[in-house]
Amino acid sequence: MQLSMTEILTPDDSGIARAADLLRAGALVAFGTETVYGLGADATNADAVAAIFAAKNRPRFNPLICHYPAAEAAFAHVVADEHARVLAERFWPGPLTLVLPRAADCPVALLTGAGLDTLAVRVPAHDVALALLRRTGRPVAAPSANRSGHVSPTTATHVLEELAGRIAAVVDSGPSRVGVESTVLDLSGPEPVMLRPGGVTREALEACVGRVRTAPPPAGAAPRSPGLLASHYAPSRPVRLSALAVDTSDGLLAFGAPLPGAGATFQLSASQDMAEAAARLFEGLRYLDRVPGVRRIAVMPIPDTGLGLAINDRLLRAAAPR
Ligand code: TXA
Ligand code: MG
Repeated sequence: MQLSMTEILTPDDSGIARAADLLRAGALVAFGTETVYGLGADATNADAVAAIFAAKNRPRFNPLICHYPAAEAAFAHVVADEHARVLAERFWPGPLTLVLPRAADCPVALLTGAGLDTLAVRVPAHDVALALLRRTGRPVAAPSANRSGHVSPTTATHVLEELAGRIAAVVDSGPSRVGVESTVLDLSGPEPVMLRPGGVTREALEACVGRVRTAPPPAGAAPRSPGLLASHYAPSRPVRLSALAVDTSDGLLAFGAPLPGAGATFQLSASQDMAEAAARLFEGLRYLDRVPGVRRIAVMPIPDTGLGLAINDRLLRAAAPR
C-alpha cells in the first residue's frame, strides 16, 4: 500500500481515537513511547504486520515486540512464569521486554514473532501510548519506526524523515524520555538471558531475579535475537569509538568536557549523566550525520555500566563494518 500523505495526529483524545481506528483497520501508525517511537500495527492481523516489514525494509526473520496496556493483557497471550510476574510487577510499565512462550490460544499472528514459538511482550511507560493501546483493544506490534538498519527515532520528525508517505499516521507526543530501546530479556529458557541491553539496566534486573546471562555475540549462525545483527543504528558517516583526540573533519559526540578541535560537537551530557546521554544519543547521531563540513563521527569513551551498556551497544553497531 503506497500512501501519499501521512497524518500527523495530536496526542489528545481525538488524535488517539483516530490512531486507534486506523490501527484497527489494519493501517500502520507510528507513536511515541518512553524509549523510542514505534511503528505500530494490529499484531493479530498478519497483513498489517507484513506491511510493517515492507515499510521498514525489515528482514522477514526479525520478530516484533507486542505492546499491551497492562501486564494482565500481555500475560493472556504468553505463558508467564514467576520471574515474569516479579519483573512485570517491578518494571512495567517500563523499558523492559520479556520473551516468553506463546500461549496455546495466542491470537497474535505468527508473522509478528517471525514464526518463533516465543513472543516478546512489553507495557510501555507512556501515557499516550497506553491510552492508544487501551483504545485499540488489540496487541500492537511495533518495531522502532525507522528504516531497517538506520538510527532509531526519538521524535515524530525523525519518523517522518524516513517514513512519510509510507505509513498512515504518526502520533506526535514529543521526544522520547529514555531514548534507547527496551531491554530484551529472554525468559523462555532455564535461566534469564539478556538478548539486548536497554532502558532497564542489568544491575536492576539482577537485583530482582539474580544472575542474568548475556546472549553470546551472534556467531555465524542465526542469532538468537535477530535484532543483534552487527551493523545497525547506522548513520551514513563512519563512526569511530573511544576517541581521545579529534580534528576539524570530526563531528564529536561528547560525554563530559568535549575534546578540543572538532568540526562540530554534540554534547550527550556535560555532567556525564547516563540517563541524559541515553535520551540524547540518537538525536546526536542524526545531527552529526548531517551537520556540514564533517566527514566522520567520533565518540568519546562512555563507561560500560548502568545505561552505558545500552548506549555502547548501540554505538558499537553504529561503528560496525557495513
Ligand atoms: O523500546 C523498544 O523495544 C521499541 C519500542 C517501540 O517499544 N521497540 C523496538 O523494537 O526496539 P525492534 O523491533 O526495533 O527490536 C525488537 C528486538 C529485536 O532485537 C528482536 O530481534 C527482538 O526484540 N525480539 C522480538 N521478538 C523476539 C523473540 N520472540 N525472541 C527473541 N528476540 C525477539
Ligand atoms: Mg529497531
